[in-house]
Amino acid sequence: MCGIVGYVGSLPVKDILINGLKRLEYRGYDSAGVAMWQPEGLEVVHRVGKVANLEEACADKGAGSTCGIAHTRWATHGRPSEANAHPHVSCDGRIAVVHNGIIENYAELREELLARGHAFRSDTDTEVVAHLVEEYYEGDLLRAVRAATRRLVGAYGLVVTCADEAQTLVVARKDSPIVMGVNDDGCYVASDMVALAKDISDIVVLEDYQLAKLTPAGMVFCGVDGEAIEPEVIHVERDLEEAEKGGYPDFMMKEIYEQPRVIRETLDGRMVNGALSIEELDLSVEELSFIDRVYIIACGTSYHAGLIAKNLIEGWARIPTEVEVASEFRYRNPIITPSTLVVAVSQSGETADTKAAISDARVRGAKVFAITNVVDSSIARESDGVIYTKAKKEISVASTKSFTGQVVSLTLLAMLLGQSKGRLSSSQIRLMFRELADTAGQVEEILSDTSVIERAALACKDATSAFYIGRGISSAICYEGALKLKEISYLHAEAYAAGEMKHGPIALIHEGFPVVTVATKSPVYEKTLSNLQESKTRGALIVAVATEGDEKIKEYADYVLYVPKVRNEFSPITVSVVLQLFARYIAVARGCNVDQPRNLAKSVTVE
Ligand code: F6R
Repeated sequence: MCGIVGYVGSLPVKDILINGLKRLEYRGYDSAGVAMWQPEGLEVVHRVGKVANLEEACADKGAGSTCGIAHTRWATHGRPSEANAHPHVSCDGRIAVVHNGIIENYAELREELLARGHAFRSDTDTEVVAHLVEEYYEGDLLRAVRAATRRLVGAYGLVVTCADEAQTLVVARKDSPIVMGVNDDGCYVASDMVALAKDISDIVVLEDYQLAKLTPAGMVFCGVDGEAIEPEVIHVERDLEEAEKGGYPDFMMKEIYEQPRVIRETLDGRMVNGALSIEELDLSVEELSFIDRVYIIACGTSYHAGLIAKNLIEGWARIPTEVEVASEFRYRNPIITPSTLVVAVSQSGETADTKAAISDARVRGAKVFAITNVVDSSIARESDGVIYTKAKKEISVASTKSFTGQVVSLTLLAMLLGQSKGRLSSSQIRLMFRELADTAGQVEEILSDTSVIERAALACKDATSAFYIGRGISSAICYEGALKLKEISYLHAEAYAAGEMKHGPIALIHEGFPVVTVATKSPVYEKTLSNLQESKTRGALIVAVATEGDEKIKEYADYVLYVPKVRNEFSPITVSVVLQLFARYIAVARGCNVDQPRNLAKSVTVE
């Protein structure tokens, strides 16, 4: 959730840290700080708010320093303040720590350290780590960090520096991502690859209970007991434009416009000699045919992709499918048998609840399959198989292109299950695949003229609340539409299965209340139209998403947002693009920062 960056080498560290933090700012942005090594001691600066505030405060700092650590925070323990911003330092200020994750036993450690005379300056869980390392420090930082991590319960990605050890960083990890790389100028460490120097494409992903020591001479690795480790070096293709807006006003807009590419690349190579191929699933057709229950586990937007998939899997394969919020699933007692398939959906591949839920499912004997956007992420590593969504780096906190990648991947999975159950023939699959591929062009068509969507958004921008209604697969997409609006515009929005309106929510409708209705052509079109009229007659402002050529809907809707005609099962792909744009235009009109909505973080690595 927070972002970490560290560097040691021959270049001035300040610019590397600040630029790294700017690239990581999408992860957390309530406060930020740096600690830079200087001969007379660590130079530590904290600021509340954006990295730009920290940059300003560092204007005359960091001269000559070539070693340091930095952090951008998303508050968990302790409100956003300078005192609670990282790096946290030991009593004597000679040890500084940045941390992602949560130290669950911090209260007990704090008591112990207070009793031993340590003085605390913040309300954070992280500060105990600085004092613990100080407690164990006897001239060897790596040894002290090893000893400290043995005492920690919880999740941590840690980078530590010490005034008494020039040009040295020590890194440790458990359940919180840490990547490292080296180039001619030195060693880099970060919580996310995007903050490593652009020319680094061979990276080390630190594993749980591993530590590393970084100096200008390179990186050495060990386990918690000090045993030497030779980690795997992974080659990754870096997209150097990934963190640039490329002429778009914000990352969200850029990412919305990338969706045709995401659809094409996610489908690329999936039809081989006329047959659907998801080799990564690593299950034979026979094994697939034994699956009699599917659980889709995810959070937030990824959960909504799961709701869509439930309709597809049950419709095409007739396999009972439950979609579960990961934070609930992990504390239930779900019915899992050897013929259960668990599908974890996660853009980041690091969401703490989803990760914990799949570990639990595996212990119970389920086969776990992941759909994620991040190569070698924790969820990818801990699953039996994985489909990568090919969305590439998603910077905007609100998911758009990764959602589309998830829906397309889940659609493929549903088709495969349908085929393995003998319910979809090869020729049906080939036809469906072609239609699925066509959605890329259809999304392009939507993106070529967004003026009506913008007009509808401007008409709704001053509302205080909105409903999203639809039936069947369209009700699933409404949940996602409402979430997009809530998170980026701070406008209250709720989604309902359209038939539920008259069982309560309709009481809220009054003159001008926006009701976004997904009424594309489907077997339940006429029913949705009646629900739309129920709201209309009570004064609602109706924004309808409808199928091109539908003239009838104009009689009832104030704004009609047309999408090209597609198979009903594929409509979430086109409709979601319209709802993303609708939410974004409202948010911009309300003066919101669409890429960095308040209180949110891109990757939720704490429970
Ligand atoms: C909303 C959004 C979040 C994430 C959720 C799960 O736009 O992005 O709701 O979908 O935090 O994250 P992942 O998919 O990384 O597991």
